[in-house]
Amino acid sequence: MRADIVTIFPDFFRGPLDHGITRRAAEMGLVKIAVHDLRQFTHDKHRTVDDRPFGGGEGMVLKPEPIFECLEVLGLASHAERLSGAVKESVILLSPQGERFTQKMAAELSGLDRLVLICGRYEGVDERVADFLGDREISIGDYVLSGGELAAAVIIEAVTRLLPGAVGNEASTRQESFTAQRGGGEVTENAPDSTCGSGGLLDYPHYTRPAEFRGMAVPEVLINGNHQEIRSWRRAQALKKTLRNRPDLLEGVELSPEDKKLVERMKRSAQ
Ligand code: ADE
Repeated sequence: MRADIVTIFPDFFRGPLDHGITRRAAEMGLVKIAVHDLRQFTHDKHRTVDDRPFGGGEGMVLKPEPIFECLEVLGLASHAERLSGAVKESVILLSPQGERFTQKMAAELSGLDRLVLICGRYEGVDERVADFLGDREISIGDYVLSGGELAAAVIIEAVTRLLPGAVGNEASTRQESFTAQRGGGEVTENAPDSTCGSGGLLDYPHYTRPAEFRGMAVPEVLINGNHQEIRSWRRAQALKKTLRNRPDLLEGVELSPEDKKLVERMKRSAQ
């Protein structure tokens, strides 16, 4: 995959992309990330990237010309070709007005050959960028950041780790919270972990050594080695955590009769 980031703060990306999985994926040639300084695409002495809004109002708006010119040199397919799905390319505008970024979207984007992330700034971006250049507008959450740079780093990280080979143990990316439930056929007798795909629930709790730390003990069930019991315990814990922290997620999850009983019991004991 190739990812292009368009920003007025190119140095911002030195940190986030130079560590961990994104760095390793780049070194392995799985992803090539290029950062483009929007000011390089201005023509005035002051390298102006923003201007006052038409109609009045607070703050400055990112001008369309440098963004359009920057994308022109990237050699992308046309807007229409991209929207039709004829090419595996997507131009994304990052803004708090976008559709909410999810793990499902990360998986979708990880199937593309090319991603262009335009980092919005200031009070906004000239709307012609969203209308005629961007294929989609994405927000990473219901809060306002000063710009799209952090959002671009979040998206690159979430997408890169889904590229085949990017994460050492691929099973771990398949099973984590929010990842869709897997079909059958992959269950092995001695592997409780591999059968605990959380299927849209939050992840179950994890523990490692020491078994007792400052009087805090690891749950006994994890130590006794009974895989069936471990599986049931993890499922119950995933349900419990989801019910407590993200009850909205339970709506979209297929629950077994056993799960439903557990959830009802948890609800009653929480009252
Ligand atoms: N720019 C400012 N806030 C943002 C958000 N929540 N998501 C994406 N880009 C943004």
